[in-house]
Amino acid sequence: MENWKPAAPTPSDLGDRELPQLSDALAGKQIALMVSGSIAAFKTPMVARELRRHGAAVTTYASRSALRYVSAEALAWSSASPVITELSAEAEHLSDTRPFDAYLLAPATYNSINKLAAGIADTVITSALASAIGRVNQGNAQLLIAPAMHGSLHNPIFEASIERLQQLGAKVIPPRDAYGKHNLPDEQTLVDAVIEVLG
Ligand SMILES: Cc1cc2nc3c(=O)[nH]c(=O)nc-3n(C[C@H](O)[C@H](O)[C@H](O)COP(=O)(O)O)c2cc1C
Repeated sequence: MENWKPAAPTPSDLGDRELPQLSDALAGKQIALMVSGSIAAFKTPMVARELRRHGAAVTTYASRSALRYVSAEALAWSSASPVITELSAEAEHLSDTRPFDAYLLAPATYNSINKLAAGIADTVITSALASAIGRVNQGNAQLLIAPAMHGSLHNPIFEASIERLQQLGAKVIPPRDAYGKHNLPDEQTLVDAVIEVLG
């Protein structure tokens, strides 16, 4: 490799957090990016940025476990919005003053999928998604779920929960299967699925 002769980058009109727009497919859409505690959470700032490249406004929710694998600061920077890591008197789980068009649970853990299917609402993610299921049921929102986990967690409990959630109107984005794991699909695949369900 040759020595690099230092040269300043070409100036840009874009602000630090702004992104070049790829399309307006999600213009005006409010998207909740729900990050649960799979190791694949470290990829989610790229998902937030890809959503924004298509015009979406992104609000990120992160579970306590998710914050072991991705920082709140990286999520806030990439989504250009504060990250919801705790529920407060603002009742962030309901988000009724600014309803979401779609909720994207990516990565979706075994834990959060099963809790959601069982009607448990005891984390930032499961509380907000309990409300999401109500909105899906009323035809006011879309819920997309992208499971990511080791193959040993693909058990009958998981299968029954996935079936139940699909009956309830959730759309499951098939994982990218490799090396005995359900892996999180790349950010373009996730965002294409959001664009598809929002028509
Ligand atoms: C290093 C590490 C990686 C993990 N990756 C996954 C994963 O990919 N998928 C999964 O379902 N659980 C994974 N877990 C387990 C979850 O973090 C754990 O079940 C947690 O309770 C999930 O909480 P949440 O669903 O509230 O985020 C992992 C745990 C560790 C320690």
